[in-house]
Amino acid sequence: MNITPMDLYPDSGAEVAAGMAPMDTQAMATETTLLNPRFYTTDFDEMDKIDVTPVRAEWDKLIAQMKSDPNKGHFKKTDAWDAVDWDGMYPPLKREFIDFLVSSCTAEFSGCVLYKEMKRRGTNADICELFNYMARDEARHAGFINDALREAGVAVNLGFLTKAKKYTYFRPKFIYYATYLSEKIGYARYITIFRHLEANPDQRFHPIFKWFREWCNDEFSHGEAFALLMKTDPKLTESFTNKLWIKFFLTAVYSTMWVRDHARPEFHKALGVEISWYDQEVFRKTSTIARQIFPIELDIDHPRWIPNLERMNRAFLAMDAAKRQGGIAGKLKGWAAGAKAALTFASLYTIPAKRHALPASVRLEPSY
Ligand SMILES: [Fe+2]
Ligand SMILES: [Fe+2]
Repeated sequence: MNITPMDLYPDSGAEVAAGMAPMDTQAMATETTLLNPRFYTTDFDEMDKIDVTPVRAEWDKLIAQMKSDPNKGHFKKTDAWDAVDWDGMYPPLKREFIDFLVSSCTAEFSGCVLYKEMKRRGTNADICELFNYMARDEARHAGFINDALREAGVAVNLGFLTKAKKYTYFRPKFIYYATYLSEKIGYARYITIFRHLEANPDQRFHPIFKWFREWCNDEFSHGEAFALLMKTDPKLTESFTNKLWIKFFLTAVYSTMWVRDHARPEFHKALGVEISWYDQEVFRKTSTIARQIFPIELDIDHPRWIPNLERMNRAFLAMDAAKRQGGIAGKLKGWAAGAKAALTFASLYTIPAKRHALPASVRLEPSY
């Protein structure tokens, strides 16, 4: 079965084409910046050669669970989908919320495109089956968010995005690190918001958050699949160089999330969530889960951690302001801010990591 959001939502983007969009969400989704979700491509032939024999028992269990498709009927609007007053929404909140939805939709769809391509090019039955299920889930996720955007008149044309968006090449091992992390962070982000709104339902300003619990279980399973893929080759997580790479990806992914979230103060205020608390909470959950496969963990309680994340945020704000200023002065300020961001990254990267031995069995179940 091969579902894409284009099949599910053939008219996606019609509103944008009709010029009704108050925000150019298509451009927001297509643009490639350091902070925007990217589209990835990789060496699919190398990935096709993975032999899952060393993790066969756990693999078969996970695949059977994905095949049973527990969320088959979940991504449909029901009576629980309350009417949304888009026109009455406080404009700065509306702008940030739409930015959040576009960024989430692009990230979900990025997974769909990558997984679907692996399925299309592969010949390895195990790999093809896994990537087929994951592409199915991500198509639903992206389509569901796009449905929410459509109500606001700003759906993204996902079909167009596959052609217009730049693709970043990552070697397979970098895909494992980055995608594993983004799946587990996705789980941690969705479940943290869901639990917070479960306790504070008056702050649920949009119905989509009600769908997050079952949704994040899909992301959890996807992360499990990448953990098993990494487990097939111990070098991927145990060699000295690869540990440095894992630390690099952890630092890059966490600091990017920090900067991106801090750019949405109104959105988090409406949810009643303090951004730095939320991000630390998501890092903590992700790091705890990642002990299943990563032998190192960032020390997010280190005295240099938060001050450097704040410095990173200021550097990005300065880069942004310099870009808007333009001209030679803007360029110089942009370079200075870029250098500051690079130094800050180095300072974050050199915080000593915590180390631990990997468990014999890799599999986990969602527990938050
Ligand atoms: Fe997803
Ligand atoms: Fe996912």
